[in-house]
Amino acid sequence: MLDNFSNSTPAVIDRLAQIIGRPVRWHEGDIRDAAALDKIFAELSVSAVLHFAGLKAVTESIDRPIDYFDVNVHGSIALMKAMQRAGCKTLVFSSSATVYGPEQPMPVGEGAPCSVSNPYGRTKLVVEDLLYELGRADPEWRIATLRYFNPTGAHPSGLIGESPIGTPSNLMPLVCQVAAGLRPCVQIFGDDYPSPDGTGVRDFVHVMDLAEGHVAALDYLTRNQANILVNLGTGQGTSVLEVIRTFERVNGQRVPFEVVARRAADIGISYADASLAWELLGWAAKRGIDDMCRDAWRWQCANRA
Ligand SMILES: NC(=O)c1ccc[n+]([C@@H]2O[C@H](COP(=O)([O-])OP(=O)(O)OC[C@H]3O[C@@H](n4cnc5c(N)ncnc54)[C@H](O)[C@@H]3O)[C@@H](O)[C@H]2O)c1
Repeated sequence: MLDNFSNSTPAVIDRLAQIIGRPVRWHEGDIRDAAALDKIFAELSVSAVLHFAGLKAVTESIDRPIDYFDVNVHGSIALMKAMQRAGCKTLVFSSSATVYGPEQPMPVGEGAPCSVSNPYGRTKLVVEDLLYELGRADPEWRIATLRYFNPTGAHPSGLIGESPIGTPSNLMPLVCQVAAGLRPCVQIFGDDYPSPDGTGVRDFVHVMDLAEGHVAALDYLTRNQANILVNLGTGQGTSVLEVIRTFERVNGQRVPFEVVARRAADIGISYADASLAWELLGWAAKRGIDDMCRDAWRWQCANRA
């Protein structure tokens, strides 16, 4: 494992080891550091790379486009070059449903047109394009580009989960912080979308399902010399208000909220056509919103400090 700990901490390593029941080999370093990458590839026999490293906050990316392109695009290129030097040509890449443009018919499939309205989304699209071309130029590469919808929840042990610095940009950490009394209320951006309760709809997918999706993708690449691009979502939309109500029901906690104006760039309704993941990878999400709310709250309670 390689991480520069810009958005995590080495304390996570012991927790990972507890979960998997054996030590985790890890290096502190940056994916943009070619020498550090070469050293790792020389020391370990790496057959495949799961590439999660990146910056991921849409709003922040608007203020810091250079940093986002540097880490997400330059970092991915540095990683691919190092893989090429080491002769390791199997890669699973974390992309995002944010690459789908607004006003798509839902559920949205992989063939839908892409259009991005912020630097973060653009970095994902640039890397996707590069991976497509790389697979065409050198068919020895085995690549799975996974477009995550809305990763939510935590490991059921309560040992690892999301711990955002500053105001959370994702819904569930915000709901948890409000339930824990750390923030006064959840702001719901708009209640006039064409959904049953008017609030925005997203395809929330449990992080454990996502993890299993990566294992399925890796397994597929082991068996197939291919370059695939696949949605990872449940195929079900859930509204922001439904998430809050479900959280209150399963955890017995009150979550005050207020409705405020829509945000300019927000898409009202977004959920995946998840059929290709099932066809190619035999993967479908197994966990629901109840599980996501329960596991996120367990993580929040265990990590209040
Ligand atoms: N969480 C989401 O809502 C979401 C949705 C779609 C796609 N993604 C993508 O999935 C991936 C993982 O997301 P996450 O939510 O787990 O984010 P995260 O911030 O928890 O994980 C990213 C990890 O990469 C590390 N990192 C960042 N820059 C690095 C660098 N230059 N070198 C080495 N390590 C570096 C961070 O310290 C962190 O541990 C990201 O690429 C993100 O864009 C996330």
